[in-house]
Amino acid sequence: MSQEVIRGIALPPPAQPGDALDRVDTPSLVLDLTAFEANLRAMQAWADRHQVALRPHAKAHKCPEIARRQLALGARGICCQKVSEALPFVAAGIADIHISNEVVGESKLRLLAQLARAARVSVCVDNADALAALSQAMAQAGVAVDVLVEVDVGQGRCGVADEQAVLALAHQARALPGVDFAGLQAYHGSVQHLRSRAERASVCRQAARAAASYQQLLRESGIACDTVTGGGTGSAEFDAASGVYTELQAGSYAFMDVDYGANEWGGPLAFRNSLFLLATVMSTPAPDRVILDAGLKSASAECGPPAVFGAPGLTCVAVNDEHSVVRVEPGAAAPALGSVLKLVPSHVDPTFNLHDGLVVVKDGVVADVWEIAARGFSR
Ligand SMILES: Cc1ncc(COP(=O)(O)O)c(C=O)c1O
Repeated sequence: MSQEVIRGIALPPPAQPGDALDRVDTPSLVLDLTAFEANLRAMQAWADRHQVALRPHAKAHKCPEIARRQLALGARGICCQKVSEALPFVAAGIADIHISNEVVGESKLRLLAQLARAARVSVCVDNADALAALSQAMAQAGVAVDVLVEVDVGQGRCGVADEQAVLALAHQARALPGVDFAGLQAYHGSVQHLRSRAERASVCRQAARAAASYQQLLRESGIACDTVTGGGTGSAEFDAASGVYTELQAGSYAFMDVDYGANEWGGPLAFRNSLFLLATVMSTPAPDRVILDAGLKSASAECGPPAVFGAPGLTCVAVNDEHSVVRVEPGAAAPALGSVLKLVPSHVDPTFNLHDGLVVVKDGVVADVWEIAARGFSR
């Protein structure tokens, strides 16, 4: 975390262990440790119950201390979405990282080879030329990575969607040096935020059927396909129980956000809000409007504005660079100048990416500040 001293003046840290919550400087990203730990236990128990591995996605939090705690509860490893994102986790001693993405470009392959010397690393492939380049770079560096052929099971992002391409890539991976064929990635992103639980269940069934048919095809061709990895917070309930997925990649479940909060839950999995942005009321220009000191540089808003937590009648209606505008609905009490509001971010991942540190709070007292070490590592 940058603690720069300029002309002898140091920026004080936002909080120190032992501080009461109301002494935390704002805007600050805050983790409620009790709710966070309950969320970790709930997802791990669900994975254990279905005998699938949990490989939580670290792109959600970018924080090695959080990854350590997920691993301590039984997670097999973690996912990262970018090669550079994996670097702080490897540096922190995380030994098993799946880059749940395609890796294209010389400098990324060079970094990947370096990481593969220090940890077990796997990546996705969906193209023969990219696989050949990956193999060449790894073999030249004298390392090997596992590759998972990414199949498009309905998302319409990366991944191949025909049997011949899946077979060809698996054969190619088995034949080339520096790469080992390890299975399939079948992540379906667009199912995660389907609001209806029944609709999510139905789309997940279709995705699992598609993944199973690719797996069967490989087996009939004599190629073992022991790993089928995928699943996010919105689909984990169904993916774990599918009998097809062997690994869950969920990330946001540890924190929750406004977007996931709008999903219909009601099943065996329920997660609590553990992540908050603290913001101070810095102006009270009208009886029906207060202004907060946190804007787009503290909370992403592509999924809508954050929500004001535990304060009915206060609605965040606009998010500017450094301000948010909160409407005081008729009949609601307006918060006083200087008071601090707890906001629920609308989208976990890009919000973490805006912060150097995470203020960890237990029973209203700051317990620690964890470094968000992979913040900005998006290459
Ligand atoms: C490949 C992949 N796996 C897993 C996830 C985790 O999803 P979530 O944070 O919604 O649980 C994502 C999120 O975008 C993803 O892209």
